[in-house]
Amino acid sequence: MIHGFDTVVVVDFGAQYAQLIARRVREAEVYSVIVAHSATAAEIAELQPTAIILSGGPSSVYADVAPRLDPAVYELGIPILGICYGAQLLSLQLGGEVVRTGVGEYGRTELSVQATSAVLAGWESPHDVWMSHGDSIATAPPGFTVTASTPQAPVAALEDLQRKFVGVQFHPEVAHTIDGQSVIRRFLFEVAECLPSWTHRSVIDAATTAVKEQVGDRRVLCALSGGVDSAVAAALVHRAIGSQLTCVYVDTGLMREGESEQIEETFRAQFAIDLIHVKAADRFFSALAGVTDPESKRKIIGELFIRVFEEVASEITDVDFLAQGTLYPDVIESGTASAATIKSHHNVGGLPEDMQFSLVEPLRLLFKDEVRQIGVELGLPEAMVWRQPFPGPGLGVRIVGEVTQERADILRAADAIVLEEVKRAGLDRELWQYFAVLPAVRSVGVMGDERTYAYPIIIRAVTSDDAMTADWARLPYELLETLSSRIINEVDGVNRVAYDITSKPPGTIEWE
Ligand code: XMP
Repeated sequence: MIHGFDTVVVVDFGAQYAQLIARRVREAEVYSVIVAHSATAAEIAELQPTAIILSGGPSSVYADVAPRLDPAVYELGIPILGICYGAQLLSLQLGGEVVRTGVGEYGRTELSVQATSAVLAGWESPHDVWMSHGDSIATAPPGFTVTASTPQAPVAALEDLQRKFVGVQFHPEVAHTIDGQSVIRRFLFEVAECLPSWTHRSVIDAATTAVKEQVGDRRVLCALSGGVDSAVAAALVHRAIGSQLTCVYVDTGLMREGESEQIEETFRAQFAIDLIHVKAADRFFSALAGVTDPESKRKIIGELFIRVFEEVASEITDVDFLAQGTLYPDVIESGTASAATIKSHHNVGGLPEDMQFSLVEPLRLLFKDEVRQIGVELGLPEAMVWRQPFPGPGLGVRIVGEVTQERADILRAADAIVLEEVKRAGLDRELWQYFAVLPAVRSVGVMGDERTYAYPIIIRAVTSDDAMTADWARLPYELLETLSSRIINEVDGVNRVAYDITSKPPGTIEWE
């Protein structure tokens, strides 16, 4: 039990699997935390888990450096679910046999349910599951019943209900396994008897209490960036301490259309938050005059942001805390339990580490999807909560060459059309990011009877899960046609539209 919630510890044997499992557990309204596989039994016990899940991972149990679990974990008397690599490890460490058959299973596989099972109950046999394994469990450890098999895995599911240990060779957490979530739910609720207490309401209440306790009657400052995370963090902190919160929003002149107005409307008008709106566009354009190198532009924008923020902060006396929208994946990636440093890749370009504030991080237990749901629950507008990721330097990294007021205005107008039409086509939630880019070239065209010599706009739209890799989106031709004609007709200074068909790698999502 942590923070008053039944807790599931997910032991990480392969990062992307562990995060997905942790999210699935939370979708079942049970709190989950991820620990490294090097965690000792004592460290795991300290978290007082109601259940433990061993994730899948890329290793073979036979590799020289194959990650192991501290065997004392099996003596803690806590229910354990092993998934894929986790199931093999559990089998091996408890006295079963894992073999290298040379024939693996990758992708969709038919599972035959062979015996009554606590986690497979209700599944018809055969049942479609998703597999990804080279080694196979050949013999279950003493005390276990084999409950399912597949053509290449004689032991595809096993359980020992006495000790409440369950293993599945397939991946119940991925969408390709039909009804996989029911395996996770049955393990949580029937085998481990967890209570589903991790609801949006209870998360909001717990975060509110924690902020109140941390802050007391002191003051908190929060930099609003226009992004989802800082918006939800501000709304949560405001719920906890009301008028002790001051928000600062720096308009760099590089924001999207309507963004500043929406921040005013939401935070000042709707939430009645003490909001300082700094209109600093002129300062940013002056600082950027004549600069074309992408890294120099980023640096100038980041540093000026900090300077402006510091100027404002120094005028507000007796502030002790800075609220930030740090999320759980950032905390995991930092590899420590207390990631209390301010990251350089922060939304607002990196705040200085020597600022004399303690941090308030009300979202540090949450995944992005939870932050969005909580944002809606707190009354933030859907458009803000579902907003696509937007880089800290704003439109500055989408204007190739010199950043001027005129060029920012052209890009902003074209970008607004992209946002509007993608949403109208119903693709806004399917795409990871979609926006306009303004390159530093001009081309010849003809409009009416006149020769034109103007900028092209490049449309960028990608699908992705995590921005590490991305694929260019196959947008419908009709949508591309609408975008092309609207942008050219409605945005002065543009006479051509192109579509970027580069994936990442080799491209990046942003142009700079
Ligand atoms: P790239 O262009 O590297 O971008 O493929 C990956 C993701 O990161 C976003 N991005 C940033 N986000 N500050 C941010 O908060 C930044 O300086 C920054 N630069 C890129 C980008 O929009 C994409 O989602």
